Amino acid sequence: MLRNVYLFYFFVALLLGCTKDEELAVIPISKSVDYGTYNPTYIIPEELPSIPPMNNPNFNLLTEEGIVLGKKLYYDNILSTNGKSCSSCHIPQYSYSLPIMGPINTAIMPHVNLGWYKAYGWSGGEELLDHVALADLAEGNPFLNANSDSILNRFSRSFEYQQLFWKAFGVKIIDLPVAERNKYISYSLAQFLRTLVSKDAKFDRYLRGEVALTSSEINGFAIFMDDEKGDCFHCHGNAANPLWTDGEFHNNALDSIFVSVNQGRFLVTGNLFDLGKFRTPTLRNIELTAPYMHDNRFATLEEVIDFYSEDLRNSPYVDPLMQKIGQGGVHITPSEKVDLIAFLKTLTDTSFISNPDFQ
Ligand code: HEC
Ligand code: HEC
Repeated sequence: MLRNVYLFYFFVALLLGCTKDEELAVIPISKSVDYGTYNPTYIIPEELPSIPPMNNPNFNLLTEEGIVLGKKLYYDNILSTNGKSCSSCHIPQYSYSLPIMGPINTAIMPHVNLGWYKAYGWSGGEELLDHVALADLAEGNPFLNANSDSILNRFSRSFEYQQLFWKAFGVKIIDLPVAERNKYISYSLAQFLRTLVSKDAKFDRYLRGEVALTSSEINGFAIFMDDEKGDCFHCHGNAANPLWTDGEFHNNALDSIFVSVNQGRFLVTGNLFDLGKFRTPTLRNIELTAPYMHDNRFATLEEVIDFYSEDLRNSPYVDPLMQKIGQGGVHITPSEKVDLIAFLKTLTDTSFISNPDFQ
């Protein structure tokens, strides 16, 4: 394993007594444990028995040291020249999103159960969570306005960060070329993001037999699951899929004309059939992440449900799973809409947004 290679060099450095290495050589390396053996409650969610294994590539397995570093970087404006941090846009109380438009005219995405997706961003432009922050760190990127010289300067002045990178990855962060430095920054952020697991919504506790649902919530769930009523489950999951998304790309009939960001997945694949497709958003914590859709066009859940009920826009690209496209919507009654929203709110996990492990 890579870590052993680092350890080897570390001990070689110790034996040689190289003075340049002295400063860092005195730092004890705590024993790192990989995902699978390291088991704080937030990483392997035993409370969600039906959850599939997390996607975690072998080159960036979770370690306690990597998570600690990623968490510190996430809340620190050290990566930006505009005073921002990841947490300026990804704020815990909104399920790690923010109710404003992002810098590239797309909604700011929440950070909840990210470890399970196969592609990231509204259009899935990045396949690995481990690489998502690389784009943020590129010079001139509007998100952080990052500048590699200033990042290097700040790390050079911070012995604490140098220690944390050494402990997490066995690297001397200030000696690395920019691309390598950004890689380890991005890896640690991905490790932290993989720990942001939500598993304590009212609906989770209902499935565990800990609480009861109201009759309105139960009816709302039935409407969600009924292909003659809401017909939502095809894309947004069901009781056996605690991610509340299929993680796939669909055109849910928001538009009939597709320009700029509304082209969605087409912008990544260039395939016409991908026009207007977006990755199905999770409905977990949906109550906390208004406004809705990739362009924040709906202010409330009521507006979203009215859209699915009466306001679908037809085009050759609409997903076949939008079975009521011919009728313009699923046409549910006002009281069914109320119940459907009551169910959606049972997916809110307040302990997730206040979990001190994440803040
Ligand atoms: C200025 C606001 C802003 C800042 C700062 C910011 N983000 Fe984001 N983030 C966004 C927006 C907007 C999106 C959606 C991008 C898209 O796909 O159009 C996003 C998407 C993401 C995603 C994809 C989530 C998913 O479900 O696919 C990840 C992961 C992410 N950000 C991590 C980070 C990290 C790590 C940082 C700090 C290095 C950061 N972000 C800083 C606004 C921001
Ligand atoms: C064909 C798949 C599909 C079906 C069926 C479907 N959705 Fe969606 N849903 C999506 C996609 C894709 C998006 C994101 C579209 C976008 O942002 O442009 C979305 C967005 C949403 C959002 C906003 C999420 C956010 O974070 O902004 C909500 C809420 C929602 N759907 C609820 C429902 C409900 C309730 C139903 C049933 C009445 C339903 N959906 C049926 C695919 C689907």
